[in-house]
Amino acid sequence: MYRMHNKLNPTLMYLVTLACILVSHLLDFGLAANSSSPRVSPRTKNASKAFFVFGDSLVDNGNNNFLITSARADSPPYGIDYPTHRPTGRFSNGKNIPDFIGEHIGVGPLLPYLDPNLSGKKLLNGANFASAGVGILNDTGMHFVDIIRMPYQLAYFEKYKERVHSLIGKQETEKLVNKALVLITIGGNDFVNNYYFVPNSLRSLQYKLPDYVTLLTKEYQNILMKLYKLGARKVLVTATGPLGCAPAILALRSQNGECIEELQKAADLYNQKLSAMTAFMNKKLGSDVFVYVESHNIIKDMTKNSKTLGFEVTNKACCGQGPYNGLGLCTGLSNLCPDRNKYMFWDAYHPSERMNRLIVEEMYSGFKYMKPMNLSTLMAIDSTKI
Ligand SMILES: *[C@@H]1O[C@H](CO)[C@@H](O)[C@H](O)[C@H]1NC(C)=O
Ligand SMILES: *[C@@H]1O[C@H](CO)[C@@H](O)[C@H](O)[C@H]1NC(C)=O
Ligand SMILES: *[C@@H]1O[C@H](CO)[C@@H](O)[C@H](O)[C@H]1NC(C)=O
Ligand SMILES: *[C@@H]1O[C@H](CO)[C@@H](O)[C@H](O)[C@H]1NC(C)=O
Ligand SMILES: *[C@@H]1O[C@H](CO)[C@@H](O)[C@H](O)[C@H]1NC(C)=O
Repeated sequence: MYRMHNKLNPTLMYLVTLACILVSHLLDFGLAANSSSPRVSPRTKNASKAFFVFGDSLVDNGNNNFLITSARADSPPYGIDYPTHRPTGRFSNGKNIPDFIGEHIGVGPLLPYLDPNLSGKKLLNGANFASAGVGILNDTGMHFVDIIRMPYQLAYFEKYKERVHSLIGKQETEKLVNKALVLITIGGNDFVNNYYFVPNSLRSLQYKLPDYVTLLTKEYQNILMKLYKLGARKVLVTATGPLGCAPAILALRSQNGECIEELQKAADLYNQKLSAMTAFMNKKLGSDVFVYVESHNIIKDMTKNSKTLGFEVTNKACCGQGPYNGLGLCTGLSNLCPDRNKYMFWDAYHPSERMNRLIVEEMYSGFKYMKPMNLSTLMAIDSTKI
């Protein structure tokens, strides 16, 4: 099954890791907003000004540019459609999901936390702590060597808060964090760059899939609780995308273009548990702190409606080589599709800019996919009193 991975350059693997994040945003909203609605008032419309991002390559804005790792997107044609037309470290031809969320909520492009330019007043916009290749578990993405694993992303966040204390004081810092929007996207790599990375991986010998998924959600719960303790009150938690349909996976395992059932099932099981876990946490905390984004359903539905949405290619990467353009890295030597807007996938694992834009539109104003509320409703809540 994953035997082929052994023959591949480890850098190829990084693509897989990153791709997992694509999955997070558009499900069915609708009913559950009752409890939060009364808190919404026009006076608090602008409540969130800062934005914080945690997770993997689906949301990394360039932290890995500052690290010694193969999980990086800092050379062309990455960034070809970014306003500067240059690579930034985002795993996209242009903007990524955090960029579009920022545009919706009125926060400019976030700097990666490791960027030396992130200082002074710029800190007040928030920061991006994400690092391509990471997972929920510390041992995920080990082959990427120097990446910012979750405990360290959280430690940097604490450090960030200390830096902001010295700018605006402790009380205002807490308020800033309470009001801020937080996005966390992890989990995909725990499958593609851990459990299923090689045949008979350590984790797959240690755990049956359902037990592994239980371990993941348990660890994830600790991460979310830590975010809560650090003051986060509006947290978007994205599901894991249809891992078995990524061009990288199709290139390795698909006979006729069919998605790989084993990975689809793993992602479904994980997403179910994640959804239940976030609902449980909200109940325990007595407030809708965590908004679960059904990104896998957003992507599945977009794939179904691809023609209407103007996509012509749903299962092939725009940039890459080999079957489905899904092998190896996206580099200057790869095949590059002429019209990026017609592709759902930019590289073997990551959505195209246009796909990112549509995913975020669904998150912001959709009625499906967001549990228990869409982003625009979430932004209108005064979260300083939670
Ligand atoms: C929302 O309120 C309506 C009317 O009060 C009720 O029928 C519905 O069950 C509630 N939904 C939830 C998720 O609480
Ligand atoms: C919301 O933001 C806009 C634009 O920055 C500003 O004009 C407006 O006064 C703000 N509203 C509140 C309630 O803070
Ligand atoms: C920091 O900002 C300066 C001026 O805008 C820019 O030239 C430089 O490339 C930035 N540094 C990094 C690491 O992005
Ligand atoms: C992950 O690593 C951190 C930092 O080294 C450590 O504190 C934590 O206990 C580890 N988590 C697990 C589940 O082993
Ligand atoms: C978000 O959800 C709310 C509540 O269902 C709905 O009224 C609203 O139209 C949705 N979209 C926007 C942009 O607010």
